[in-house]
Amino acid sequence: MQVALEAKTIVLSGGARLTGRVGIDGAKNATLPAMAAALLTEEECLLENVPVLEDVLVMVDLLRWLGADVDFDQENHRVRICARNVTQFDAPAHLVEKMRASFLVSGPLLSRFGRAGSTAPGGCKLGSRPVDVDLRGFRRMGAHIDVDETGYQMSAHRLYGAELYMDYPSHTGTENLLMAATLARGTTTIVNAASEPEIAFIGSLLEDMGARIKGVGTPHIRVDGVDRLRGYRVAILPDRIEAGTIAIAAAITDGEVILEHVSEKDMVPLTSKLREAGAEVWWSADSMLIRGRGKLTATEIQALPFPGFPTDLQAAFAVLMTQASGSSRVYERVFNDRLRYGEELRRMGADIQDVDKQQAIINGPTRLRGADVRALDIRSGACLVLAGLVAEGETRIGEIQHLRRGYEDIVGKLDKLGAQVSYVEPV
Ligand code: EPU
Repeated sequence: MQVALEAKTIVLSGGARLTGRVGIDGAKNATLPAMAAALLTEEECLLENVPVLEDVLVMVDLLRWLGADVDFDQENHRVRICARNVTQFDAPAHLVEKMRASFLVSGPLLSRFGRAGSTAPGGCKLGSRPVDVDLRGFRRMGAHIDVDETGYQMSAHRLYGAELYMDYPSHTGTENLLMAATLARGTTTIVNAASEPEIAFIGSLLEDMGARIKGVGTPHIRVDGVDRLRGYRVAILPDRIEAGTIAIAAAITDGEVILEHVSEKDMVPLTSKLREAGAEVWWSADSMLIRGRGKLTATEIQALPFPGFPTDLQAAFAVLMTQASGSSRVYERVFNDRLRYGEELRRMGADIQDVDKQQAIINGPTRLRGADVRALDIRSGACLVLAGLVAEGETRIGEIQHLRRGYEDIVGKLDKLGAQVSYVEPV
């Protein structure tokens, strides 16, 4: 199905059982840092299996703004980047405010050119989202940073290796510091680093570029700086969040779906909870079969940094809880305001009580009713799509531009699996 780029609304009629196979795209949260890493070298870099998403297009615009040559072959999911002629060092406000990951160009720019500037990054509104971890790390590596109401100006003749301790294992913070450390003089250690699969992927991409790194994917990283890096050619790893979203869709519709191109070890936090709730999960190489078994039972999830349950699937799993019998509990321990989707689910009849901004009780099973709701951010949009799949009658989801930031043609994929779903074109 053609992605309707202008469509602002998705319409679903609930009740269909999802069946069939679907291929999982490359991970957004690995693509964005991988693109930023191309700024570390003057050689050409080639990324394959790149998802066609709004956030990727923002990163393309940002790299071009900085002076890099970027070719995004959307049909073949390939991005070619050459950052030989970087002419700008300030990420512009109009792009940075759209996406927090824009800040990922800071580490590479600072490390290779000794200069980087950015406004305070925007992105999904999930609570406080500082970049202190990054700034403190850059300072410890010798950067001078001026902060004012317009943002940050960072400079350094050269970065130096340092011992870095992260107060919080920030995902993009770890990537920024890791990239900055690759070209710093001497050894950098990062303690309490984030260890998401996307970070392990970036570590191995940097090693392909010639970086000397140990321990990436664990909380202790060591980087021995080198003088220059070369280009890379890599395929993006599968998107565990897209895979998880569709797996939950299969479980709640009593469906039977095979997800292709998925990494078993990266899915463990979700598959453990799916099994505990009563769904079946089977693996064969990189294919995952998920089967609903008619009855789901109440569970508890705690969204935490990896290998904890992914915060990006917390809202989607809450929909499963509305269909499970008993009282389920959600603890969101990564972001301090990521339960706002509850308001939209309540419009559809869900029994969700917010204990506070990070904890909710969900009683089920509830027969959800179709309603007019709106996506508040990427993952709350996906949660409403799932709710629409099991709701009685028609659900109209507005503001789906958020969904396009993180899911490539979710409507086309669900349609292929038998869902009654379509985009509504603007009149
Ligand atoms: N935090 C700090 N200090 C910092 C940085 C972060 O306290 O200096 C706190 C934040 O306040 C927040 C928590 O750490 O409460 C998590 O923030 P983190 O920096 O780890 O998140 P992020 O790097 O901004 C990435 C993903 C998010 C995903 C989170 C958590 C990208 C581009 N984004 O964000 O993805 O939810 O990690 O895994 O990688 C999404 O895809 O929808 C999305 C929001």
